[in-house]
Amino acid sequence: MIGIFDSGLGGLTALREAVRLLPGRDIVYFGDTGRIPYGTRSPETIVRYARQDMRFLCGEGVDVVLAACGTVSSTALDTLRQEFDLPIIGVVEGAAQTAVQRTKNRKIGLLATGATVSSGAFAREIGALDPQVELVSVACPLLVSLVENGHIADDDPMVELALADYLAPVREARVDTIILGCTHFPILAGAIARVMPGVTLINSGAEAAKLLAAQVPPIGEGETGRVRYFVSDSAPGFARLASIFLGAEIEAEVNRIEIERF
Ligand code: DGL
Repeated sequence: MIGIFDSGLGGLTALREAVRLLPGRDIVYFGDTGRIPYGTRSPETIVRYARQDMRFLCGEGVDVVLAACGTVSSTALDTLRQEFDLPIIGVVEGAAQTAVQRTKNRKIGLLATGATVSSGAFAREIGALDPQVELVSVACPLLVSLVENGHIADDDPMVELALADYLAPVREARVDTIILGCTHFPILAGAIARVMPGVTLINSGAEAAKLLAAQVPPIGEGETGRVRYFVSDSAPGFARLASIFLGAEIEAEVNRIEIERF
């Protein structure tokens, strides 16, 4: 059974790809909607939250975890890997690799949370793959709130306003590739593409799901492809937005848990 977690809806970008690539696998999704955002918090708090998220998923019986959160992947992954005895895949590695493969002018933009940008995780990963690449990183915290509040249409005026500001440095640097390093941002890919036509957008959640699919067998023993959803706050809002994003009604019920207990 696969565990996927994020601070909220963003990890669904990884879930969607995981379901497509691994249709027979059972998946448990946890969105920490009661404590979002993670990206504005200290590394200590992010590690504490991520540890609790992992404990919950382990209690559900998962045997592999996709940390579908750029913030957790760039800040807490090493600690989680030391503390938990199961494979944990983050979203930095796959996105960095694909971006380096796809860029032609070696100018890559990174849109992510403040914590992810400050961690330097993408810069390190990309620098190790190709030291000649210029990385222009922009922290875009407002985009997380916009997505969580349902501003996900390609022509949403509030998203357009935020993007005009956030995308200015990557436009100026003439990047040809942008890593959507926060898993919430691929939900806004249409809006971003309108401002940056012709630029390659890398979906960090989907890239991580590809790494996951390369590592686990497509069908688990006794698994039937069931997806279960858990959140730490108001479940109906999550189900409605998740259904819009996944392009299909969520069939399973969304359960609310007390994450601080873990
Ligand atoms: N989806 C998240 C990320 O990738 C979380 C954003 C947040 O909670 O601030 O960073």
